[in-house]
Amino acid sequence: MTNPNPLAASASAHLAVTQSEAAPDVIDFGLGHPGPDLLPLGLLAHAAATRLQGDDSSLLQYGHEQGDGYFRQALAAFLTRHYAAPVDMDELFVAGGASQALDLICTLYTQPGDVVFVEEPTYFLALRIFADHRLRTVPIATDGDGLIPAALADALAQHRPSLLYTIPSFQNPSGVTLSLPRRQQLVALAQEHNFLIVADEVYHLLSYGAAPPPPLATYAATGHVLALGSFSKILAPGLRLGWVQAAPQHIQRLVNSGLLDSGGGLNPFTSGIVRVALEEGWQDAHLTHVRQVYGRRANALTAALRAQLGELVSFTAPDGGYFHWLTLPEQYDGEALFRQAAAYKVGFRPGARFSATGQLQHCLRLSFAHYDEAQLAEGVGRLAALLAKNG
Ligand SMILES: Cc1ncc(COP(=O)(O)O)c(C=O)c1O
Repeated sequence: MTNPNPLAASASAHLAVTQSEAAPDVIDFGLGHPGPDLLPLGLLAHAAATRLQGDDSSLLQYGHEQGDGYFRQALAAFLTRHYAAPVDMDELFVAGGASQALDLICTLYTQPGDVVFVEEPTYFLALRIFADHRLRTVPIATDGDGLIPAALADALAQHRPSLLYTIPSFQNPSGVTLSLPRRQQLVALAQEHNFLIVADEVYHLLSYGAAPPPPLATYAATGHVLALGSFSKILAPGLRLGWVQAAPQHIQRLVNSGLLDSGGGLNPFTSGIVRVALEEGWQDAHLTHVRQVYGRRANALTAALRAQLGELVSFTAPDGGYFHWLTLPEQYDGEALFRQAAAYKVGFRPGARFSATGQLQHCLRLSFAHYDEAQLAEGVGRLAALLAKNG
């Protein structure tokens, strides 16, 4: 059948060659985004139809700088339910996703050459944003409980960071969650040494087993935490909608940026539609659904890895988020494996991309978010064949 929309055809042809799309016959564990079956077209069609009827055209106007008040009210109520801690709409700033929020924070809070502390390993595309701002990233060691406070204290003896960037819950790429005592120690160190924590909490609501400790957003009142949230992982990345939770002085600083002076609040149209999904409880229901699906996928990937690669790889089964982080024997090189992977119709992200210093070559990040259980098991079979060839 010919595609009735030539623009759609050329758009998808373009997407096929970008980093974030895989060829149809490849099982690409590198894709860290929801599978097409989890993108809620019907939900958003209802929300859009509801919001666009009537005569309130305000979502088509330049937006309120902090973000539409009704949307922030609905978001604060949603977060209060799910964080088990009160969230006030006045502490929320609406952004076009966590990435845009991080970029804006770098613009406002850093100068080229400043030091940013990052976890080792960390989210590889945050490293790209820091590079755009000409920042120097200094890695801080982590273990099974997240960032190691003693390693942070050592680094603080040598550097005065502008920011510390952390992914405290179900980390990308390691899946690790920062323990409660360490959350408290981290905030205490930020207060003592007067630096800002940027807590990227985009996976916090995606728990499939034990709930993580309260988000770092709950420490926003200290003035040392800017917490990022997003609808990308709990609703749809194409919405480009997220938020910052922070103390009033930080919200003011974001609101007063030149970007907002010129363009108004970020994403008023989409937030007007997502507001309906929040108010009607559709976002809550969708969150319950994706948690169940992702939980099953996480278990399926764990089982397939144990069955097919148990001797070779070590990993901790994640309790939430999107990722398994595999450690291979030291002689394996993730980038070399990556170059051969296409021939095996499988994909993943090599570990060194998540290191501020190019370490972790023998690690791989696998995401279970994009594929169903059978595809995940098939993909592990292909990975096993690739590793056997390189063993
Ligand atoms: C840790 C982390 N932060 C941010 C993002 C991107 O978030 P957004 O789509 O809201 O910009 C991702 C997506 O993979 C992520 O893993």
